[in-house]
Amino acid sequence: MTETISITRTKKSKIDQVDFDNLAFGTVFSDHMFICDYKDGEWQTPEIVPYGPMEFDPSAKVFHYGQAVFEGMKAYKDEDGKIWMFRPDQNFERINKSSERLAMPAFPEEFFFEGISELLKLEKDWIKTGIENSLYLRPFVIATENGVSASPSNSYRFMIICAPAQAYYSGEVRVVFADTYSRSADGGVGFAKAAGNYAAQFYPTELAKKKGYQQVIWTDAKSHEYLEEAGTMNVFFRVGDTLITAPTSDRILDGVTRKSIIELAESKGIKVEVRPVSVAEILKAARSGDLKEIFGAGTAATINPIAGFGYKEDDFELPKLEDSYASRLKKDLKEIQANLAEDPFGWRYEVK
Ligand code: COI
Repeated sequence: MTETISITRTKKSKIDQVDFDNLAFGTVFSDHMFICDYKDGEWQTPEIVPYGPMEFDPSAKVFHYGQAVFEGMKAYKDEDGKIWMFRPDQNFERINKSSERLAMPAFPEEFFFEGISELLKLEKDWIKTGIENSLYLRPFVIATENGVSASPSNSYRFMIICAPAQAYYSGEVRVVFADTYSRSADGGVGFAKAAGNYAAQFYPTELAKKKGYQQVIWTDAKSHEYLEEAGTMNVFFRVGDTLITAPTSDRILDGVTRKSIIELAESKGIKVEVRPVSVAEILKAARSGDLKEIFGAGTAATINPIAGFGYKEDDFELPKLEDSYASRLKKDLKEIQANLAEDPFGWRYEVK
C-alpha cells in the first residue's frame, strides 16, 4: 500500500520555531498533513503534503450542514526512538461509526494505518520523549461537494493533521451539572464524534465559563437527572472506594480512554460500576463526604481531576487527595502509552 501514498515534503521545516516546553493544546501544527479525497464512489490515492491552507468552494456542504466527523489520537516516542500509539484500532472503528451516522462513506483500514505510519515517519522529530509529551493526531472527514441542497455530499476529504501536545487543561477544572441545555438525545448523534456535537456545546459552556466553570457535565436530555459526559471527556465519580461511570449509549461517546480506565482500574482491584449515575446520589455523596473524586477521561485530556462542581445554586469543592485514583490511574495509563511500563492489555501499537 505504501507505494500508493504520494509524498511531497516541505521545503522548510517549522520545527525550530516551536517552544516544545510551552505548548497551548492544539495551536501548533507539524510540517505535513495526510489527505485523501473521495469522489466517484471511491477513495482516491492518498497524499502527504506540506501543512497549509486549502481552498474550498463557499457552497461546500461542510460549511452549511456540518457534515463532518473527527477523531483524537496520540503518538508517543520512547527513549529508544520507537513510536507508539494507543489502541488506534478503536479510533479507526469509531471514525467509521461516526461517518455512517452522518451518511458519509467508510474510510479504508489500510489507508488509515498506512497514512498514520507514513505521516509519523516524516514527523518523528515532532514527537518528544518524556511522559508529558505526545503528538496529537486529528483525523477528520469533511463533505466537499459544492451546492447547498440539504442532502449528503457525494465527495469528501479525509485528513490527518498533527499537533505536539502536553496538558489539555492548564490549571484546575471546575464543572457545572447541566440542568437546562442538553448535548444529545436518544436516537441522536451523541455517540458519534460529529463536529456539530462540539459546536452545540460552545454556547452553554461559554455561559458556564462566565460563572467560573471550565466545562459542563451533561445530563440526560429527558430529565436532567443522570450525569452523562463532559464536553471533552467522559466522566468518573469516586464514591467511597468505588468508581462509577455512565454506560455508553447512543447519547454518550464510547471513549477509548474511558474503556481503558475501566479495565485498568479493575485490574488494580478497584471496584468499578458502569451504571446510570444520578445527580441526586452525587449531591448526597458530596454532602456526606463520600464523594472523593470526580475526573474526566479523554484522549486529549488523558485523566483530568475535577476540583469542584456546581449544581443550580450550590457549589461543592472536592477533597484534595494525596493518592487519588485519578493520579494513580493517570500514571499507570501514561506509562503504558509511552512504553515506560508493561502493557498486559496489548493496547500499545508500534508505528513502523
Ligand atoms: C479528544 O480527546 O481527542 C477529543 O476529541 C476532545 C477534543 C474536543 C479535544
